[in-house]
Amino acid sequence: MRLKDKTAIVTGGGSGIGRATCELFAREGAKVVVADINAAGGNETVSHIQKDNGSAIFVEADVSKEEDVKKMVDAAVKEFGGINILVNNAAAFILKGLDDVTPEDWVKTVAVNLQGPSLCVKHVVPEMKKAGGGSIVNISSVCGMMAMGSHFPYSPSKGALITLSGSLAQELGPFNIRVNTVSPGATITPAVEMIAKEQNTTVEEVINACVRKGTFLNRYAQPVEIAYGILFLASDEASYVTGANLVVDGGLIAH
Ligand SMILES: NC(=O)c1ccc[n+]([C@@H]2O[C@H](COP(=O)([O-])OP(=O)(O)OC[C@H]3O[C@@H](n4cnc5c(N)ncnc54)[C@H](O)[C@@H]3O)[C@@H](O)[C@H]2O)c1
Repeated sequence: MRLKDKTAIVTGGGSGIGRATCELFAREGAKVVVADINAAGGNETVSHIQKDNGSAIFVEADVSKEEDVKKMVDAAVKEFGGINILVNNAAAFILKGLDDVTPEDWVKTVAVNLQGPSLCVKHVVPEMKKAGGGSIVNISSVCGMMAMGSHFPYSPSKGALITLSGSLAQELGPFNIRVNTVSPGATITPAVEMIAKEQNTTVEEVINACVRKGTFLNRYAQPVEIAYGILFLASDEASYVTGANLVVDGGLIAH
C-alpha cells in the first residue's frame, strides 16, 4: 500500500500505460481520477479498479483545453478532498516525415503533449500546496532522447517535455512538489496498433523496429513494467528524487 491515503490524477488513463498506471496505483491504495477524452476506455479502467475493490472515478477531459483541466481538478477535489499525485500521460501520436507534417499537426501535438501537461500542473499545484507537497510524473519517451527521423512532430515534443519537467522541478521544489519524467521504450499498447495502421504495417514491425535499434533485453515492454517506474517516482520512496528522467527501455538508450 505504497500510495495509501493519496489521490492521483492520471491523464490518458483509459488505455495502455495510463490504464496500467491507474490499476497499479489503486492496488497500492490510491484513490484514482482517470482522465481521458475516450469515455468508454476511461470508464472501463474505473470498472476494473472497482471490481478489484479499489477507488476511482472517470472524468472526461481533453488536457489541451483549460476548461476541461479545471473540471478534472474540481472533480478530484470534490470526490476525494485533494490531490497528491499527477501523472501527465496523455499524448497525441503524429509521426510523419518532414514533407508530410502539416502546421496543424504541430499545433495539435504541442497543445496536447506540452501545453496539456503544463495546464494540468498549473491547476493541480494549488491543491498540492494545500497538502504540503506532491509528486508530478511526466511521461516522455526514448523518442525524446534520440534522433528519430520521420517522427515529426511527436519526437521533438517528447524532447521538450523533458526540458519542461526540469524547469517545473526547479520552480516547484521550494513547495515540496517533485517533478520527474519517465521515458518508456517500445511498449505494446493500443497506440502502437494505431501507428501500425497509419503506416500500413503490423504492430510487430513497429515494435521490432524499436527493439532492433539495440534493446539489450531483446523484447518490448508490457505497460505494467512502465507503470512500476511511475509508481516509484509518485511514491514517498522517491522523496529526494526531483528533476530526474527515469528511462525504462530495456537498454535502448544505453546502447
Ligand atoms: N507505447 C509506447 O511504445 C510508448 C513509448 C514511449 C512513450 N510512450 C508514452 O506513453 C504514454 C501513453 O502511451 P500509450 O502507448 O499507453 O498510448 P494509448 O494510446 O494506449 O493511450 C493514450 C491515452 O491518451 C488519451 N488521450 C489522447 N489525447 C488526449 C487528450 N488530449 N486529453 C486526454 N486524453 C487523451 C487517449 O484517448 C488514450 O486513452 C504517452 O505519453 C506516450 O507518448 C509510449
